[in-house]
Amino acid sequence: MAQAIPPLRIGPHTIWPPIVLAPMSGVTNRTLRALYKPFGLGLTVTEFVSSNALQFGSRRTMEMIDQHGLEHPVSTQLWGNDPRVMAYAAKVVRECGADIVDINFGCPAPKVTKTEGGSACLRDVERCEAIMRAVVAAVDCPVTVKMRLGWTEQDLVFVEVAKRAQAVGVQAVTLHARTARQFYKGSADWEQIAALKHAVDIPVIGNGDLDDPHLAMERMRASGVDAVMLGRATLGNPWLISALRTLMEGAQAQPYPAAAERLRYAIHHYRTMVEEWGEERAVPQMRKHLGYYLKGFAGASELRERVMRTSGAEETIAVVESTIARLESAPLVA
Ligand SMILES: Cc1cc2nc3c(=O)[nH]c(=O)nc-3n(C[C@H](O)[C@H](O)[C@H](O)COP(=O)(O)O)c2cc1C
Repeated sequence: MAQAIPPLRIGPHTIWPPIVLAPMSGVTNRTLRALYKPFGLGLTVTEFVSSNALQFGSRRTMEMIDQHGLEHPVSTQLWGNDPRVMAYAAKVVRECGADIVDINFGCPAPKVTKTEGGSACLRDVERCEAIMRAVVAAVDCPVTVKMRLGWTEQDLVFVEVAKRAQAVGVQAVTLHARTARQFYKGSADWEQIAALKHAVDIPVIGNGDLDDPHLAMERMRASGVDAVMLGRATLGNPWLISALRTLMEGAQAQPYPAAAERLRYAIHHYRTMVEEWGEERAVPQMRKHLGYYLKGFAGASELRERVMRTSGAEETIAVVESTIARLESAPLVA
């Protein structure tokens, strides 16, 4: 089928569809990324990893940069404030299979910004440039940057940082169009994303508040971005990704599946997590994910409470299975 939207090109990678799964710390581990990939992700990004931590290479840190064989191309995201340490970390993740190295200039969490990492880097564009230059020089793969608009509304440095990025050889930039001070308040400012697209020649990936496939298409066309990044709205709803891919192919999007099918997929997600991480580590993570899958249909809050009271994987899955049976005999879809 003719593609209505061209692929995203980053260095040697032709990325189709131009849909990127947002890195989400504590959520988008390799299992989730591989599960969501076939829905239509062109590119996945690891959770952010501390460049300092990579110097020590603990098991937990190495797990965070681990990739799933199914997900290439995959980008590994690093955060830190020291160009030398970031360059070292970039070499490590490249050796461990990263196709792209992404630099985080966006995280607003105090535990990151108090060490001048993440979005705090945007308070010093010279430092941003030094980090980008060092990372580009360290690896033989494309380097990209993900950032916010600036630290506050008074210092919107994103165009300046993106121009410097382009000048030192960064090959794409993602903009989550909020300031660091906003955290997740207000809404992402897609006018600023359009302004960035006009200001630089490297590909721009637009990010923020895309929770509907038609909205994502509209934002993409209006801003002219080369790709969109989807985050929170995909959790419990990977069908957002497939619906957007269908629109990008120039076809009509299918409606989202009914509740029973969504829950059946949630069980598949649950079992895959247990298989890959063991029950002890999968159960707390899957409580969170089941909460997402259970959003938005009648009877969900009662079911969520029942799920929270269960102890092991099989008990939880049995509760979800009995709900599926109930839904199929008397559908409750809102
Ligand atoms: C739980 C959570 C964890 C996140 N972790 C990261 C991260 O590790 N690296 C990063 O660049 N952004 C991170 N983000 C920000 C997202 O990548 C994305 O920019 C943001 O959620 C806006 O997109 P959305 O409106 O589609 O969710 C995180 C967001 C959430 C909700």
